Amino acid sequence: MKLMDIFGTLKKDMDFIERQLYRSIEGDEALLNETSLHLLKAGGKRLRPVFVLLGGKFGTYDLDRLQYVAVPLELIHSASLVHDDVIDDAGTRRGKPTVKAKWDNKIAMYTGDYIYARALMLATQLPEPEVHQILSKALVQMSIGEMEQIRDFFNNDQTVRHYLLRIRRKTALLIAISCQLGAVAAGAPRHISSLLYRYGYNVGMAFQIRDDLLDLCGTEKSIGKPPGSDMRQGNITLPVIYTLEDAKLREPLLRTIGKIRRGEDGNPVAAAIEMIKAGPGIARAEQLAETFTNKALSALEQLPEGKARTHLKEIALFVNKRSY
Ligand code: IPE
Ligand code: IPE
Ligand code: MG
Ligand code: MG
Ligand code: MG
Repeated sequence: MKLMDIFGTLKKDMDFIERQLYRSIEGDEALLNETSLHLLKAGGKRLRPVFVLLGGKFGTYDLDRLQYVAVPLELIHSASLVHDDVIDDAGTRRGKPTVKAKWDNKIAMYTGDYIYARALMLATQLPEPEVHQILSKALVQMSIGEMEQIRDFFNNDQTVRHYLLRIRRKTALLIAISCQLGAVAAGAPRHISSLLYRYGYNVGMAFQIRDDLLDLCGTEKSIGKPPGSDMRQGNITLPVIYTLEDAKLREPLLRTIGKIRRGEDGNPVAAAIEMIKAGPGIARAEQLAETFTNKALSALEQLPEGKARTHLKEIALFVNKRSY
C-alpha cells in the first residue's frame, strides 16, 4: 500500500509542499544545492508534513501559514537523516546512495547543517514564539537521544525503559510536534493540539519500534537502506533487549554481540539476527508497537470526528504494519 493512497484528498496541498521543499534549499552555492537536493529527490514518505496538514484541519486551515511548519519539519527530518547516515556509516537511503557515500562525511555534515539552517529561515516566517520554542526544544531532545544511543552502544544491560526514553527523544517527539504544530499554526484550541501531540507521540514510538524491527527483518530493497545496521554498530534495540531477557538465548546472543564488537569474521551480525528471529523478541516488540498504536487511537477518539481524524487513524494503522 502506498501511503499516498491514504490521503488522496491532501494531494494538491502536498504537491505544493513538495514544490516549496525544493525551493526552500535553493541557494547560491552549487555544491550545497546539489547535495541537499540529493536526499529530497530520492523521495521518502513525507510523513511529517502530512501530519502538519492534518493537524491544521482541526483549526483554521491556511496552507500559506502551514507551509512554514510543514516544510521546516521535513527539512529537519532530512537534515537529521543526512547526519544519521554519517553516524551509522550507511551507504544507502531511500534506495539511493547517501550523501556521505556519494560525497563524503565532511560534505554530509555541512549539508545537514545547511538544511537545518534553511528550516530555521522558514519557521521564523511565522511570528509566534511558541512555534519556535516547540521546534527548538524538540531539536535539543533529538540530539540528546542520538547521544544517548552512542553512549549505550554495546551496553547489554540496558532496560526497555532506557530504550523507550531514547526513541522518544530521537524520533517520537518530532512526530508529536508535527501533529501539534499543525494545530497550533491553525489556531486550534490548546486541548486539541495537546491531543494531537499525544497521538503523534504514540505513533512516533510505534514508528521507531517498527523501524528497529525492519532493520532486523527487512530487506534493502524493501526499506531502501541497509538492514542489520543497528546490530553492526551495537545499537541494542527493543527486540534485542527482549531476546536478552530469554534465559536460553541470553548467553549465546551475548557471545555473538561480543564477536560483533570485536569485529570478528564469520558474519556474527547475521548470526545474531538469526537468534533474535528464533526467539520471542520480534513478537514482543510487535506487541509493544501495537500498544502504542492503541494509545494513539484512543487519543484520536477524543478529537472531533471528520476526514482528518479518519486519515490519522489510517496512518496510525499503516505505521503499525508498515514494511517500508
Ligand atoms: C526514518 O524515517 C528515520 C526514523 C525516524 C526511523 P522515515 O521512515 O520517515 O524516513 P523517510 O522520510 O520515509 O525516508
Ligand atoms: C532514527 O534512527 C534516525 C533519526 C531520528 C535521525 P535510525 O538510525 O534507525 O534511522 P534509519 O533506520 O537510519 O532511517
Ligand atoms: Mg541512527
Ligand atoms: Mg540510521
Ligand atoms: Mg533504523
